[in-house]
Amino acid sequence: MSVHSENKRVTTHTLQSMKNQGEKISMLTAYDFSMARILDDSGIDVLLVGDSASNVMAGHETTLPITLDQMIYHAQSVVRGAQRCLIVVDLPFGSYQGNSKEALNSAIRIMKEAGAHAIKLEGGEEVVDSIKRIISAGVPVMGHLGLTPQSIYKFGTYAVRAKKADEAEQLMRNAELLQDAGCFALVLEKIPAALGQKVAETLSIPVIGIGAGGGVDGQVLVMHDMLGLNKDFSPRFLRRYASLYDTVHEAVGNYIKDVKSRDFPNEQEQY
Ligand code: KIV
Repeated sequence: MSVHSENKRVTTHTLQSMKNQGEKISMLTAYDFSMARILDDSGIDVLLVGDSASNVMAGHETTLPITLDQMIYHAQSVVRGAQRCLIVVDLPFGSYQGNSKEALNSAIRIMKEAGAHAIKLEGGEEVVDSIKRIISAGVPVMGHLGLTPQSIYKFGTYAVRAKKADEAEQLMRNAELLQDAGCFALVLEKIPAALGQKVAETLSIPVIGIGAGGGVDGQVLVMHDMLGLNKDFSPRFLRRYASLYDTVHEAVGNYIKDVKSRDFPNEQEQY
């Protein structure tokens, strides 16, 4: 039995009740109206308008180039498509690191111009002041620790994070700081499963993992990866639920064949 009813909007409070009652949280990324509608109709709890749009929608190598205006455009499309789930939007690189006033202004633009329900940002201690300022303006904040793709050039690799004891202790300290600052949930990316479970057991807020094992309170995947739209990205944590690259490739191949052979359109497909 689910904590929330079929038609009622999922809120940050729903997620907290789900954690309290042991119901796992499902979250996927979305970037456009049509997919948001399908994912929402399928019953997803949370849609994240991730800055991974920079990779999967715009074709950039990293998440760094995407702008606040572009994130707002994606978020507006998702908000129009989803009626039931909670919609969280990433603050993109360069829109919050300067100072807490810049962070607040960026968060307010996302809430006001896109109609989102919450924002997510990456980092620990260094972003706590910004998180407090955003929350004090009434905007719910989701934290993000472990592999933080906006800092890829600092670390130089997408390898598993916090494998060493001192790094794991630092991650735990940061997780507690984010909870104390008022975050309603936390994403943990690509860390050992045992550490993911320890953080989820220590924190009272929901902890949602991507490559953080099964002991956390929920899971998030990038929609393009789990639907098999990408053939060339196969990290260990990814489970593919469809092979849409092959499905689309075959469908388009058949369309081309039918056009060239004059099979399409037939009598019934014209006026
Ligand atoms: O941008 C994104 O897709 C994310 C997820 C990987 C959590 O932040």
